[in-house]
Amino acid sequence: MSKKAVGIDIGGTGIKGALVSTKTGELRSERIKLGTPEGGEPEAIAEVVRDIAAAVDDKPERALGICFPAVVKHGITQSAANVSDRWIGLDADELFSNTLNRHVHVINDADAAGVAEVKFGAGRKRSGLTVMTTLGTGIGSALFYNGVLIPNAELGHLEIDGVDYETRASFAAMERDSLSFEEWAERLQIYFSTLEKLFTPDLFIVGGGVSKSHEQFLPLLKLKTEIVPAALQNSAGIIGAAALAYASE
Ligand code: BGC
Repeated sequence: MSKKAVGIDIGGTGIKGALVSTKTGELRSERIKLGTPEGGEPEAIAEVVRDIAAAVDDKPERALGICFPAVVKHGITQSAANVSDRWIGLDADELFSNTLNRHVHVINDADAAGVAEVKFGAGRKRSGLTVMTTLGTGIGSALFYNGVLIPNAELGHLEIDGVDYETRASFAAMERDSLSFEEWAERLQIYFSTLEKLFTPDLFIVGGGVSKSHEQFLPLLKLKTEIVPAALQNSAGIIGAAALAYASE
């Protein structure tokens, strides 16, 4: 049986997808990226996802995983950070299954990226507690104990000094406030020290597009926990969504 599945990663600015080998984590098609429709409304996003799925895969019987920037429980999106509020309480499994005319599996975007890193990337063969964080428009997080995902950790919204800390320490916050890497690292220091105090992890993995520039900020952080950049970077969400969908078929 072919071990390929389709992965689609929905973000606040772009939606990307590819066919993935769930055995190796390698992409088996071109990676296609289209813009997220203005307002992030459910039906408009579902149509873009349908177009990407059709472009990367001609076998609708294959598993298809979609990751999304929200808490996702039993296929229902329960929050909406950086997308339309209409996603709150929406049956996303049903919306995508109907629009794509095939079975889909929807999960949180950071959980998907974490699954990819733990299976194929920076968290491979690591035991104990791994905390994955993605620094992008928001801060995504995923917890793994001995490689097993504990879904829907929402540690980006930790309240520190009275503020939802993703509004200070995400990559979008760095850009918004025109911070240098040194200035941003001061905020990241507060954020990761808090996570360290709460969880005493064995490993932090830092993903998101900015993890390409990890040399500019990770060495500035003073932590007891090992902290490493993600290995799969921009494709982690796609790969993890595909792997999880394949495993749950
Ligand atoms: C959302 C998370 C998501 C993260 C990264 C946060 O604002 O609450 O569900 O994983 O952004 O997209």
